[in-house]
Amino acid sequence: MHHLFKRFLLATSVAGLAVLTLQGANAQDKQNVEVLHWWTAGGEAAALDVLKQDLEKKGVTWTDMPVAGGAGNEAMTVLRARVTAGNPPTAVQMLGFDARDWAEQGSLGNLDEIAEKEGWDKVIPESLQEFAKYDGHWIGAPVNIHTTNWMWINKAALDKAGGKVPTNWDELIEMLDKFKEQGITPIAHGGQPWQDATVFEAIVLSEGPEFYKKAMIDLDPETLGSDQMKGVFDKLAKLRTYVDDNFSGRDWNLASAMVIEDKAGVQFMGDWAKGEFLKAGKKPGVDFVCVRYPGTQGSVTFNSDLFAMFKVDEAKVPAQMEMASAIESPSFQSAFNVVKGSAPARTDVSDAAFDDCGKKAIADVKEASSANKMFGSMAHGYAAPAAVKNAVFDVVTKHFNGQISSEDAAKELAAAVEAAK
Ligand code: GAL
Repeated sequence: MHHLFKRFLLATSVAGLAVLTLQGANAQDKQNVEVLHWWTAGGEAAALDVLKQDLEKKGVTWTDMPVAGGAGNEAMTVLRARVTAGNPPTAVQMLGFDARDWAEQGSLGNLDEIAEKEGWDKVIPESLQEFAKYDGHWIGAPVNIHTTNWMWINKAALDKAGGKVPTNWDELIEMLDKFKEQGITPIAHGGQPWQDATVFEAIVLSEGPEFYKKAMIDLDPETLGSDQMKGVFDKLAKLRTYVDDNFSGRDWNLASAMVIEDKAGVQFMGDWAKGEFLKAGKKPGVDFVCVRYPGTQGSVTFNSDLFAMFKVDEAKVPAQMEMASAIESPSFQSAFNVVKGSAPARTDVSDAAFDDCGKKAIADVKEASSANKMFGSMAHGYAAPAAVKNAVFDVVTKHFNGQISSEDAAKELAAAVEAAK
């Protein structure tokens, strides 16, 4: 080859490389988000995809950092390691008290500029602002409102059982007995502490909104150790008898699959379960029924996924802001939450695109919130800090696994919460 031509080739490829590197640098520094999350189940991943695609359209690339494990306990462990190593991800899926904890430690950035420009204060409900703001400053972008006091019932099994949705404890037990007669597993459950606690908190709420508030929000020792709480544990023990032998350690989405595949009658779970039903092509009112846990209609226990933005290099901040802005856009709020099973995190999003369960979720949140019957979920980080939550998990799981009596469980609950406060 002629040496001049060779030189020309070299020059152009070097120039080409330079351009490529520049684009690469741009993409890396300005328009990339590394996102730590626990949305790895089918319905969750489908919802996450809505966010990913939305950002990609805006020129923000996505580096995925999934940490499997429902309710995010494992994700929070990985996060701590990353932050300790001085290398926090740009954006992190988080629940209320965890976000507050990171803010307190000074690890989170500030979204005030974008929040002010877009008027978040006026459209994001108070109950979410309490956690998405710290010390008056926005520290995270709320994605949704999940509520946890739901039952997801297999419609065919319910019809066979007489078709009546249970509205109190006795009717619930009747329905479960009928499921047993049908030869299916009455309750689809996964034995993981947060799942046990999700069932537990539904029973606590069914004792009345006041009781839930005193026990789970105010952490009142007398209420926690009361006879009424012993009664809650008795009910939990009764429900335990309707669970199959292989429940231990089962992931929540596999429990949902049991209801989806006609192997089980009902799952007590937050409305991310609906994401699984939809992903499997199931229709509300046709294949499954969504109703509140008996005795809790009118109240909700809620949690909201927010994306907290960590303090990172200046160059990465614009992508964080793009992401926060994308999350709060009303059209995104509708598109995402339709798939996820949750209600929007804004009060001004139309329910037109939502199915009947979604419409009910939105209406229930509105009703509960104006009646002061909307409470943070203990199982999902909105009732108390992680130390208290974990203390509750320990006692509830021990009891669920038959290691302590209901009486001792109530006593231990009061003592463990007091010690963890
Ligand atoms: C919740 C979270 C939901 C859902 C669920 C199961 O804590 O808020 O978005 O992912 O865990 O993983």
